[in-house]
Amino acid sequence: MARIGLLTGGGDCPGLNAVIRAIVRSGLAGGEHTFVGFRYGWAGVVEDHAEELTLQSTAGILPRGGTILGTSRTNPYADGQDGTAAIRRTLTERGVDALIPIGGEDTLGVALRLHREGVPIVGVPKTIDNDLGGTDVTFGFQTAVQIVTDAIDRLHTTAESHNRVMVIEVMGRHAGWIATHAGLAGGADAILVPERPFDIEEVVAHLRRRHERGRSFSIVVVAEGATPREGTLQVRPGTATDAFGHARLGGIGVTLEGEIERRTGYETRVTILGHVQRGGTPVAYDRVLASRFGVAAMDAVAAGRFGTMVGLHATEILEVPLEEALREPKLLDPSLYATAELFFG
Ligand code: F6P
Repeated sequence: MARIGLLTGGGDCPGLNAVIRAIVRSGLAGGEHTFVGFRYGWAGVVEDHAEELTLQSTAGILPRGGTILGTSRTNPYADGQDGTAAIRRTLTERGVDALIPIGGEDTLGVALRLHREGVPIVGVPKTIDNDLGGTDVTFGFQTAVQIVTDAIDRLHTTAESHNRVMVIEVMGRHAGWIATHAGLAGGADAILVPERPFDIEEVVAHLRRRHERGRSFSIVVVAEGATPREGTLQVRPGTATDAFGHARLGGIGVTLEGEIERRTGYETRVTILGHVQRGGTPVAYDRVLASRFGVAAMDAVAAGRFGTMVGLHATEILEVPLEEALREPKLLDPSLYATAELFFG
């Protein structure tokens, strides 16, 4: 019998509740374990803000977006602080034997540090951006891709009616997974991603060629982390950062809207999908993946395989060392981009 702590950290993601439910359900099926849910990511562990998680309190949450535990980007090591002592104190006082943080690179980066300091931890990967190493796919990604694809479909009809260029800015800080999958699914005419700095002149030349061939509208999907090739276009970076030092992104779509219209004379509009991509109910694929991750994380804890993260490898759920998973972000497969490029009208 063990007492297991859970937390959800970083940006929320459809499927988080499915993981929480799966950990509690499989834990109760496999033994007399008890569960404590820390509120608002690492903040809940540092400040000892928590609640019991039971069969009853986790019932009915499978299709619900967001996270019943709340989340935050609190970094226990921000500004030179050392949050380990506070975290240890809370875990000892609450009698927690093992911790399962569900999060992305930042949340799991804290997990890796705690693991190195001897805290028993198993991580569950989460991000709609799909850019974490150690897993082929993260839950939440398919939901985001579906939301963006639906938006592109809607933008297509209004673009066509008005003979406009529609720029759609989507999430994707380091990687263009969402932009490329949804762009391919929605029939985008150009997709700009962080992995391939773009030349604005090449983008507009492509749009001109397309319009000269008789098309009267175009769809341009841009990931928020896409940047112009050096020296080709001036973009003023924002100054706001989070507790992990990441810049607050967003705005490249607005720059593109202005530049495309100015350079081509085609009427252009931008849509920034923003947090709509993270909200609402997870699609079935994400519910299944999140449930499998939760069950596998509980198995790893029960077997004492700490310092690991569960992940999808082809069709199997495997454990990988946290260290390996976090070594570098998982960037876009160039062959996928090449496939999408074939359809750039
Ligand atoms: O969840 C990852 C992510 O979606 C990034 O693509 C994006 O830059 C970031 O979250 C924005 O999150 P927030 O505005 O909640 O800090």
